[in-house]
Amino acid sequence: MGLGDTKSISVLQAEATTEGTRSLKRVLTATNLVMLGIGAIIGAGIFVLTGQAAASNAGNGVVFSFTFAFVGCLLAGLCYAEFASIVPIAGSAYTYAYATLGELVAWIIGWDLMLEYLFGASTVGVGWSGYFNDLMRETGVHLPAAFTQAPLAWNEAAAHFDRVPGGIVNLPAFLLVMFVTTLLVIGIKESARFNNVIVFVKVAIVLLVIGFGFMYVNPANWHPFIAKNTGEFGHFGWSGVARGAAVVFFAYIGFDAVSTAAQEAKNPQRDLPIGMLGSLVICTVLYVLMSLVLTGLAPYRQLGVPHPVAYALEQIPQLAWLRMFTNIGAIAGLASVVLVMLLGQSRVFYSMARDGLLPAAFGRVHPRFRTPYVTTIVTGTAAAVISAIFPIGILGELVSIGTLLAFVLVCAGVIVLRVRRPDLPRPFRTPFVPVVPILGILICLGLMASLPGRTWIRLIIWMAIGLVVYFLYSRSHSKLRDEVPAIGLAAAD
Ligand code: ALA
Repeated sequence: MGLGDTKSISVLQAEATTEGTRSLKRVLTATNLVMLGIGAIIGAGIFVLTGQAAASNAGNGVVFSFTFAFVGCLLAGLCYAEFASIVPIAGSAYTYAYATLGELVAWIIGWDLMLEYLFGASTVGVGWSGYFNDLMRETGVHLPAAFTQAPLAWNEAAAHFDRVPGGIVNLPAFLLVMFVTTLLVIGIKESARFNNVIVFVKVAIVLLVIGFGFMYVNPANWHPFIAKNTGEFGHFGWSGVARGAAVVFFAYIGFDAVSTAAQEAKNPQRDLPIGMLGSLVICTVLYVLMSLVLTGLAPYRQLGVPHPVAYALEQIPQLAWLRMFTNIGAIAGLASVVLVMLLGQSRVFYSMARDGLLPAAFGRVHPRFRTPYVTTIVTGTAAAVISAIFPIGILGELVSIGTLLAFVLVCAGVIVLRVRRPDLPRPFRTPFVPVVPILGILICLGLMASLPGRTWIRLIIWMAIGLVVYFLYSRSHSKLRDEVPAIGLAAAD
């Protein structure tokens, strides 16, 4: 028995088809999955980071940053799609790694995915609170600062947290995350319905901004399209476009969360690839158009504000009416991102608990709602508390680096599985293996390299904590150890 032991594909496939009151409910259609993807993707990234990437890094070239980040996501998405079609199980990348790279790597990915989903939900919860407070202010309601601000702020120079004077708790963020958690406990169908409504609203508003915005674009703002580099890496020029890609990568995070709903999809082998790749492509088209509009409405240097979309619209008096809609779009949009992130996290924990790597309670399914309610409540409460006390910046960077690491491991997994198990039926095949996964790995590593050194240190500390938990608890509780003679890729699957 070693750390590289894998879980057999046939065991996984059997798990995926188990039905009964202890299993999750298969209700999601291909459309639901595309909507879940869009629900997770369009959020703080497009509504906040586009402006920052344009103003500080890429200039008008931010449209190329979006395109570059899309290529990385597409390559990783093609790899996710192959796995999702072979192993349509709730755990996503965690499960794929268990089948190919072994238990230790699976644990590492599972632990790493917490950065994407758990911290992702918290990050976007904080962003939501910012927009919500703004909307309240505009309508004349002034919420007390003590209850809308995190009590802690990160002091970069001193590298420690400072107490924010007057800040007690970010209550709107906390309440939103708890509301979404309740919805997720009540049912997957109810959650998907809520998500569908929100996606409709936010896509409609993004289309309004694009449609009306294009009518007032001042092409002079697009000159120069690639601003001259300041002499420093990442500050304009093509290196700025590359650094901008790492920043706006956050805007794409979430399409992979579709794969965590595998056990709730009616026809996962066909529909998961459609859900992931479909939502990714739709959002990319919207992002590219949106970034062209924003940089066309306002000079890119002015866009480094917390509400760049609203700011760009303010520059054109005829578009002032759209501002209110934009805030509503952002509020609705960010709420569904939290929903899908929490959905993803609870499904990953559910799978890890089923494998014995986490306490069995995390794998419990509610007899009536048929949702993994214990893990949903624990995950949601943790995300709510984190969003109530931490500032957004420190959370967001961790989310991007954690997601990129998961993408790298999934791309590598596709190559490993092609070599070890060429015989497996693959309803969806990643094209041009190994070129696509290798390019995916290189682009994702390149994006990781563009993130600040302190984020790397936090990633390493986080993963080290994970290893301690693995060796103290999970390794000895793993169910794989009980089943060993019957499993492993080398065994007859
Ligand atoms: N892609 C998600 C967002 O931009 C995480 O909010």
